[in-house]
Amino acid sequence: MQMPHPLLLGHRGAPRQAPENTLESYRLALQAGLDGLEFDVQRTRDGVLAIHHDFDLEGQPIAELSWAELRASAPEIPRLEEVLALTQEFPGIWLNLELKSQPPDSDGREAALAELLQAQPNLERLWISSFDPLALIRLKHLGVTVPLALLAYQQEMLELLPCLPVQGVHPHHSLLNEANVSEFKAKGWFVGTWTINDPALAQTLLRWGVDVLIGDFPERLLQTRS
Ligand code: G3P
Ligand code: MG
Repeated sequence: MQMPHPLLLGHRGAPRQAPENTLESYRLALQAGLDGLEFDVQRTRDGVLAIHHDFDLEGQPIAELSWAELRASAPEIPRLEEVLALTQEFPGIWLNLELKSQPPDSDGREAALAELLQAQPNLERLWISSFDPLALIRLKHLGVTVPLALLAYQQEMLELLPCLPVQGVHPHHSLLNEANVSEFKAKGWFVGTWTINDPALAQTLLRWGVDVLIGDFPERLLQTRS
């Protein structure tokens, strides 16, 4: 994947200006000049890939709600197709699709995603990340060809990297240092991190060679370009 360096993404859009993970939030992030978006994908009971950070909505598991029930409670929640359609409105944007998943079992969300992506043109600026290594392995088995990346909050998670079908790694910024960024890049993995809301931290991470910064404030991320 030939991405510009650095690549600056809105974390759930521009979540301090509009409700997170809504089309409004995404448009604000893109209109501000960010390169793209990070967003969170869930699956409803009837197989719709819906965009929401939490596994629950008002105490009810999204996996147990139908799409119609979910939309009735939260009409602002988009489905994945609506987010992908933003590439027509904002040509050239980059999309980091975070697949939310609760290991070890699968409710079929990887298969739903693989099927949806198969029918999509213009996927050359999209990649999938997940905290769930099993989801990444399943996506690979399902024939998904877009790049995959492991998200990590814990140092131990990073030890899984050599076993996984990933091209990228997204450790929380607290896990990164100059040496391990160099090691990841030497192994051919692109490096992304979140939630970068401090311009000084952003500068340090870029100096170490981090490729992708994901943050809540578009204007603070954009400061790294000046
Ligand atoms: O993908 C980066 C980041 O979004 C991962 O954590 O909880 O904000 O989805 P979270
Ligand atoms: Mg996320």
